[in-house]
Amino acid sequence: MNSILCIGAGYVGGPTMAVIADQCPHLRVCVVDINADRISAWNSDSLPIYEPELDEVVKRTRGRNLFFSTDIDGEIRKADIIFVSVNTPTKTFGHGAGMASDLQYWEKTARQILANSDRSKIIVEKSTLPVRTAAAMERILNSGENGIQFQVLSNPEFLAEGTAIQDLINPDRVLIGGQETEQGRNAVQALVDIYANWVADEKILRTNVWSAELSKLAANAFLAQRISSINAISALCEATEADVDEVSRAIGLDSRIGPKFLKASVGFGGSCFKKDILNLVYLCGHYGLKEVADYWHQVVAMNDFQTDRFVDNILKQMFNTVAGKKITLFGFAFKANTGDTRESPAIKVAKNLLTEQACVWVSDPKALNNAKQDLRDLAVHLESDPYVAATGSHAIAVMTEWQTYRTLDYQRIYDSMEKPAFIFDGRNILNHRELFNLGFNVFPIGKPGLTHF
Ligand code: NAD
Ligand code: UDX
Repeated sequence: MNSILCIGAGYVGGPTMAVIADQCPHLRVCVVDINADRISAWNSDSLPIYEPELDEVVKRTRGRNLFFSTDIDGEIRKADIIFVSVNTPTKTFGHGAGMASDLQYWEKTARQILANSDRSKIIVEKSTLPVRTAAAMERILNSGENGIQFQVLSNPEFLAEGTAIQDLINPDRVLIGGQETEQGRNAVQALVDIYANWVADEKILRTNVWSAELSKLAANAFLAQRISSINAISALCEATEADVDEVSRAIGLDSRIGPKFLKASVGFGGSCFKKDILNLVYLCGHYGLKEVADYWHQVVAMNDFQTDRFVDNILKQMFNTVAGKKITLFGFAFKANTGDTRESPAIKVAKNLLTEQACVWVSDPKALNNAKQDLRDLAVHLESDPYVAATGSHAIAVMTEWQTYRTLDYQRIYDSMEKPAFIFDGRNILNHRELFNLGFNVFPIGKPGLTHF
C-alpha cells in the first residue's frame, strides 16, 4: 500500500493530504481536481487557500511525495487508496432543494473511479455525506463487469478552518467506519496503518459505516446547537441587562457543560454547519421523524434570527435610518485565520445594509478576494487597510474576530469618523468601556449598549 490519491483539492483535500504526506514520507500522495486553476495555485507560491502553517507543510512535501495534478484518470489508475473529498453542497434544485445534499459530484467521482480501475481499491469517504451514502457508492463501484471489488470506508474529517493543520496533526479522534466483513476489516486496517504513523491508537475509533457517517453530521449539529443556544440567551441578555459573556463563563465552568463553543456572535457561518444540519433535517424527514427534524431545524432558524437581529439593531440605534451613511465591516471571513467566506454572516449583513441604502465598506486581512465574488455586482468598497476603510464612517461593525482588530488605534479611528460614531461588536472582542471613553457609542452582542445620548 504505497500510493494515495485524493479527489478534490479544496479546504479539506489540500491540507489533509499535505499532512499525510508530511507524516508519511514513505507514501506517494497525489491530489487531483477538475479545477485546473486550483491545481496550478497548489503548485505555485500562492496557495489557493489561507491556513496557518499550510505553506510550510506544502513547501516541505511538494515534489517530494506530495503532488497536485489534473490527470484524474491517470492518478486513479496508480492509486491503492482513494480519498474522495469533493464538495457536497446543499441541493438547489428538484427534490429536497434547500435541504438535501447535492451528491452529483460525489457520484461522478464514483463512476470515474470505476471506469479507470483495473484492480481492487479502497475508497474513503472524506466528504460529509448523508447516512447510507457508502451503500449507494458501493453499489455503483461494484457494478463493473470485470469482477473488481471496492471497499468503501467512511472517514469523516473534523478539522476546523483556521486551525486545520494543528487539528490534523493532533486530532481529538480519527473515525473510521467499515463493513463488518473480513474484507471490510482489512480495508479499515489499511487506513488505520496510515494514521498510526502519527496518531495514537486509542484515538483511532473503528465503527460501522453508518455510525461514522452519522457521527459527522451529529458532531456538527451539536457544535452549532451550542452556538445557537448561547445566541438565544444573548437576545435575552440584551432585554434584561445581563451580560452574555458572564453567563457563558458561569455555565461553561460547569464541567458537564464545558467552556467551548459558547461565544455569542453575529451568527455562525462556514460551509459546514448550515449545510450539514439541513442535511440532517432532511434525513430525519425522510425517515418520518418530523419532531426530530423540527428540533434541529431550529438551530439554523435561531442563527438566521441572530444575524437579522444584528442588522435590525444597527438600524434602530442609528435613528432608524442608515441611508447614505458609511458603514464599515471589520472582517468578512466567517471566522478568524481563514480567507473563507462561505456562509459568512458578513454577507447577509452587507446585503441587508445595502437594502437599507447604506454605503458599505468591507475590510479583511485575507478574505477580500472571496468578498469580491460574494458581493459582485453590488456597490460595496473593499479596502484592506482598516484605518482607510473606517475614515469618514458613521459606524463600524465587527464581523470577524481577527486578532488585528483588537489592537487597532481606536483613538485614531474615532478621530477620522463622522459623529456620533458607532461600533457594533458582532464578536465581543473589543474593550467596550475603553471605546465608550473615547467617545464611541458601543453596542456589543448580549450586553447593554454604552451610549452618550
Ligand atoms: P471545496 O469546495 O473547497 O473543495 C472541493 C473540491 O472538489 C473543489 O476544488 C472541486 O473543484 C472539486 N471537485 C468537485 N467535483 C470533482 C470531480 N468530479 N473530480 C475532481 N474534483 C472535483 O470543499 P471542502 O471545503 O474541501 O469540502 C469538501 C468536503 O469535506 C465537503 O463534503 C465538506 O462538507 C467536508 N468538510 C469540510 C470541512 C471544511 O472545513 N471546509 C471540514 C470537514 C468536512
Ligand atoms: C466546523 C467544525 O468545528 C469542524 O469540526 C468541522 O469539521 C467543520 O465545521 P469550521 O466551520 O471550519 O468547523 O469552524 P468553527 O470553528 O466550527 O466555526 C464555525 C462558525 O461558528 C464560525 O462562524 C465561528 O465564528 C462560529 N462560532 C464558533 C461562534 O459564533 N461561537 C463559538 O463559540 C464558536
